[in-house]
Amino acid sequence: MAGIGHEIIRLDEVVSTNSLIMGRRDYLDRHGLVVIARHQTGGRGRMGRHWISLPGRQLQFSVVVHPRFPAVDFPVMSLLAGVAVAQAIQALLGQAPRLKWPNDVILSGRKVCGILVEGVPGGKKPRLVVGIGINCTGHSEDFPPELRDRLTTLEQEAGRGVDVDALLHAVLDQFDALCARMADGGKADVLSLWQNLALLGEGERLRIPTQEGEREGVPESITPEGYLIVRLTDGSRRVHVSGELEWLK
Ligand code: BTN
Repeated sequence: MAGIGHEIIRLDEVVSTNSLIMGRRDYLDRHGLVVIARHQTGGRGRMGRHWISLPGRQLQFSVVVHPRFPAVDFPVMSLLAGVAVAQAIQALLGQAPRLKWPNDVILSGRKVCGILVEGVPGGKKPRLVVGIGINCTGHSEDFPPELRDRLTTLEQEAGRGVDVDALLHAVLDQFDALCARMADGGKADVLSLWQNLALLGEGERLRIPTQEGEREGVPESITPEGYLIVRLTDGSRRVHVSGELEWLK
């Protein structure tokens, strides 16, 4: 099986690299295919949110993955992608990112990268599309006012420009190595790498929906499946599998 990034399609403008791949069977059939765009007119984020694309200032791409591990472990892919980005940033810029469950990459308390993992329904062979957006050049001021205090860029944090192509290849290499590790039964290793980078424990607070309404708690750890364990204010614990989650300052 050819590695992640063996084939790269470069586009100037597209609605969304994830949507483009999801709509094309010929792309979905190619494990490791990467589609990268300079600008997305309808970039998508998690929970149906919009991803703001700043033409030429971000690294925005999606990867086709034919997972060589069971479906029960697919949620780990999302954490794995966050680890790959964090490791690449650390290697290239010497910055030490942290991860917010499931996969936001954080520098100085602000988001520098978002990841959207989507499964392709139907078909005999499972396929995942992993979309990654990294704010590379420019400044938080380039974003709409309501987002400025929550987002940052690599240039702003590192104080110098970023070789975007080198970053792409660093992420793809880390991603490929981590996927191989997962396929070789290394799920626990991947989860432990994620946990070492994660913002967990006292000092972190979030709000999650529960059957009794919204509750506040501390993100404590993850389960062997990669779900988030939250300790609520009354001391009880909840496993947060997916869905809305609001981080509190
Ligand atoms: C998030 O932070 O909620 C996830 C953002 C994911 C953005 C990337 S950019 C490349 C790919 N194409 C998309 O439409 N979204 C992802």
